Amino acid sequence: MKKVQITETVLRDANQSLMATRLPYADYEDILPVMDKAGYYSVECWGGATFDSCLRYLNEDPWERLRNLRKNLPNCRLQMLLRGQNLLGYKHYHDDVVEKFIEFSIKNGIDVIRIFDALNDFRNIKTALEATQKYATDKTIASGCISYTQSPVHTVDKYIEMCKELKSMGFQTICLKDMAGTMTPYEAEHLIKGIKDAVGDMPLILHTHSTTGMAYMTLTKAIDAGIDVIDTATSCFSGGTSQPATETMFYALQQYGIDSGLDEEAINKVNDYFKPIKQKYVDNGQLNPKSMATDAQALVYKVPGGMLSNMIANLKDMNALDKFDDALKEIPEVRKDLGYPPLVTPLSQMVGNQAVTNVLVGERYKNISKEVKNYIKGEYGIAPAPVSEELINKVLGEGGKPVDCRDEDVKRTGAEFEDAKKALGDLARSEEDLMSYICFPDQAKKFFEYRKAKEENEAVYTIEEM
Ligand code: CO
Repeated sequence: MKKVQITETVLRDANQSLMATRLPYADYEDILPVMDKAGYYSVECWGGATFDSCLRYLNEDPWERLRNLRKNLPNCRLQMLLRGQNLLGYKHYHDDVVEKFIEFSIKNGIDVIRIFDALNDFRNIKTALEATQKYATDKTIASGCISYTQSPVHTVDKYIEMCKELKSMGFQTICLKDMAGTMTPYEAEHLIKGIKDAVGDMPLILHTHSTTGMAYMTLTKAIDAGIDVIDTATSCFSGGTSQPATETMFYALQQYGIDSGLDEEAINKVNDYFKPIKQKYVDNGQLNPKSMATDAQALVYKVPGGMLSNMIANLKDMNALDKFDDALKEIPEVRKDLGYPPLVTPLSQMVGNQAVTNVLVGERYKNISKEVKNYIKGEYGIAPAPVSEELINKVLGEGGKPVDCRDEDVKRTGAEFEDAKKALGDLARSEEDLMSYICFPDQAKKFFEYRKAKEENEAVYTIEEM
């Protein structure tokens, strides 16, 4: 029987896409034993923005959350999303930090590490892969992930080359990550057939979003073309900027005669559990119903929906909403000049802001943001296509030299751990605490202080009780 397995995203991507990752662990702990037996390929539950959100907004220790997930999901695969050399942040970390982060992730319970680089510069995911292999248990899976985008240089052949490279690097599975939800059904069909012909023995995963309304059709074609795993979210947390619905795909696959491995009763129980939780966040405004709607505009401009709403907000702030159409038309120009970067964080914001600046100033690249300058210097990695010569000259100037994002400084062992120990003193209780501080210093310190104060209060309270 043909098989297509399901990764459930409610705890990570659906949570991140629909409600800015504000779902606290306590909200879903009780359903974890059911999820553990639902038959998912994996549960995506950690990484992405969850780490930052735990410290910044939820006063949770992200490592403790992971250990609790492991405890209550002892059998199913726990999956995380990792931004290669950037880990879960926005800068390039030293190799020893990347290695330790992966060591701790596996030690605290992660099985599947999905690793990507915004520019598909695979030098930026190599250290993470090697660390995963070094600390792997027999359940660990290193998944190489491609940021999918559409441009004149992103051809089917180019994607096939990328897949071959991921395979030769030693990844065990390959994921196509369509963060904007702009992959159309026939693109999926051609792409997946091509990839399957080239690296057919490697499991292929499709990650898409319902943003533009394409996702169900795209998944259908992907299934016809031989996809092995698809990402979905329990139905009350599906749709819009989130993934297509788990149960919907379950019933469709069942009728197709394809085995998803899912337990019908369990996946329905999961959805019943999350319904009132969703309602709670709709009622308190944290889940904006707008994010659950379909917005096909992204198909016209080939940019993610979030990027458009960001641009509108920026223009509104500057009282220049009348420039929206011009700014939209400027995006493809900026993107071309920058060598067609995939429009994923942080590139989507950088391209959008530069387009707005160009239009508002009335002259292209009169003002160039610091981030775009760093990108042009090469700090983020190699662009998919050559960056405009004119821009390079403008940014680097006379005799200026490009930067290598994999230079010796990145590879060397930094003083991060020693610095973190000094900065935290007795606020740090574990090596994982040090890692949280290295990744998000201000947020981590604030959380450790909160944790300490809470414990002291509780101690006082207990003594008074006695
Ligand atoms: Co996603």
